[in-house]
This record gives sequence, structure tokens and C-alpha cells, in this order.
Amino acid sequence: MTLTASPGERFRNLTGREARIFSAPGRVNLIGEHTDYNDGFVLPMALDRRTRVAAASRDDGIIRCISANLPGTIEFSIDQPIVRAGDWGDLIRGIAASLLRDEYRLTGADLLVESNVPIGAGLSSSAAIEVATGYALLCLAGEPVDPVDLALAAQRAEHEFAGTQCGIMDQYVAALGVEGHALLIDCRSLEYRAVPMDLDGARIVVCNSMVRHELSDGEYNLRRAQCEEGVRRLSAHLPAIIALRDVEIEDFDLYGASLPPLILKRCNHVITENARTLEAVAALSRGDLVTFGRLMYASHASLRDDYEVSCPELDLLVEIASACDGVYGARMTGGGFGGATVNLVRSEAVPAFIDSITRAYRARTGITPETFVCRAGGGVRIEN
Ligand code: GLA
Repeated sequence: MTLTASPGERFRNLTGREARIFSAPGRVNLIGEHTDYNDGFVLPMALDRRTRVAAASRDDGIIRCISANLPGTIEFSIDQPIVRAGDWGDLIRGIAASLLRDEYRLTGADLLVESNVPIGAGLSSSAAIEVATGYALLCLAGEPVDPVDLALAAQRAEHEFAGTQCGIMDQYVAALGVEGHALLIDCRSLEYRAVPMDLDGARIVVCNSMVRHELSDGEYNLRRAQCEEGVRRLSAHLPAIIALRDVEIEDFDLYGASLPPLILKRCNHVITENARTLEAVAALSRGDLVTFGRLMYASHASLRDDYEVSCPELDLLVEIASACDGVYGARMTGGGFGGATVNLVRSEAVPAFIDSITRAYRARTGITPETFVCRAGGGVRIEN
């Protein structure tokens, strides 16, 4: 209640105006990593941690934005070409530019952004800002909102204003997340199935390594290009394939050996991760947390060894988790190169787990990890 009220009150103090409050969640991906841009499957859940945007329209075409968490005031006109400036305001500029390109008629706006999604932890704080802001701008302008189109506009903002050729997972779940559920997203058809998170006495625990995750240094885009190269080469044997999503494990066993070793490893991760994701959904649906946990560990090993997007701190968190009582599974979550792990832990074991992992990780790295239990939240919405 206070959280919901606070951006509105701040906004009133700053501008003397009443605001509408919009919000969108961060996400934790349970399994299905680096599969989205291969037309594959992912299983994220929206977090119960959100970005809130207090917003009121202006009639001069200016968008003015401040953040409770980040410095400076962002200001630009929707009547002028919108260009990158290299600061956090690019998230706001990017989504506004994307929506204008999609021919939505926006108005100017005063915006106050406030978030409790950890930044740089691989929990999609950027997607939460883009989607919440995009929703705010559309609602202020009285434009209809199609959540899939909003997600696609936010993804394009990321491509064009952040330079990361990301897939659709983060923006999609920020827009369409369903309370109490994870989403099995088919990243080709852009349809989803809501999978109930009835964990039967278990909890999802996030452990932030506090090593900042940065995708912009080119490794992410490089992985994407390596997957595309794999598709090009494999299509000599399998002419019908369009993306790695289309490659069956049996066919890969036959033709994978024709690939250069590095491309082989990258493709192996994606093809097996797609299969793991579908298997994990089946396991979750029958309440088989042991199998789900085993698939989480296998996903981590594949991301570490074949896709090479983990880092020593994430590996350490998974290693420590695997030795704790009551842990079904653990893996890095999100793009990698730092960020957080996701852990499936029996409810009664959670306090001891958090205590052990905090101590052991601190002892080995000198860093205190941030840990929290999360529930599946809902997607973008109006709060008032
Ligand atoms: C980042 C991207 C997503 C997805 C993940 C890896 O979060 O934004 O599109 O590719 O990495 O699964």
C-alpha cells in the first residue's frame, strides 16, 4: 500500500499534479536460457518486484522523466528525432521512439520512475522500465494496448537504443506475466501457456552474485551470431530448418559433427535446452520437483560448459546450493556474465539455505550476496 502510494505522493510533491501509476515486473527465468532468439521455448515467471511509473500527460510534446533510483532528469521532445544519449534515459527514449515508429500517437508526459527490481542482476530491470513506461505513454495518450505489441516495441527499443540483440522473453513476461504462474512462451508463435507455480512446499529463491551483469560488451550478440552460423551450416543437411528450434536432437547427433567445434557447443546448448524446457514443464505439471531440479542443474552445466555465459561467482553459487539440504536445483538465470541464480528449495529448508549460501559465498569471494524468496507476480498494469 505504501509502496503503491509513494511514487504518486512524490510526483505530487514534485509537480503539484496528480499522477496515474503504472507498473511492470522484473522476471526470473526458471529454465530455457538463450533459447528465445532461436525461436525456442522459455519458462520465466514475473517477479513480485516491480517498476512503478507515476505519469501525467503534458500538452507541449515534452517527455520529462526522473528516477528515484538513478541520477539526472531526462528530457526530450516527441516532435523531434529521438536519439541515444548513452545513459539510463535511453530506456525511456527507446520505448517512446519505438511506439512512435509503430505510429501510436503519444502525448508529452511527466514521469517518475521507481523500482525495487535489482539493477544489473539479470532480473530484467530494464524490460520492467521499458514496458511500464510504454504502457504509461499509451494509456496517457488514450491509445489501445496490445501487450504482445508492447513487448515487441520494448524489445526493439533494446535493440536500437541499448545495442543488445535480445530475444523477446523479458519484455514478454513483463507485459503478460500471470500472478501465481510461470509462462511457457513459444518464442516463434509468441503464444504462451500459463503454468501454475504450485510448488507443493517449495520456494523459488534468487541469489544475486552482486557481480554486475553486462550484455553490452558484445558477448551476447556474438552468441546470437554463432547460433545463426549453426543454422546456416546445418541447413546444408536439414534444408527445412529456419532456426535451432527446428533441429531435433537425433538429427543433431547425425549432423552436428560437421560443425566447427565452437559452433557445435553453442548449438548443443540451445538444442538440448529447448528439450529440457519442455521436459521441465511436464515435470512441474505433475509436481515432480526432483526432475525439475535435475533439469535446472543440467541447464547450468550446459550454459557453463557449452554456451560459456556463466562466470566463477555464478558457478560457485550453484556449487554451494547443490551441497545444501532441501535444494532440488539451481542455475544461473538470465543472460549471464554475472547476475543471479535461481534455486528451487523446500520451504522448511529456506532459512538454513539462505544462511549457508550467504556465509559460504562471502567466505570464498568476500562478497555478500543478495538473496530473496519470490512469488510469481502479474504483468504490466495500472495501479490506481
Ligand atoms: C537476456 C535477454 C533475453 C534472453 C536471455 C537469455 O535476458 O534479454 O532475451 O535471451 O538474456 O536467456
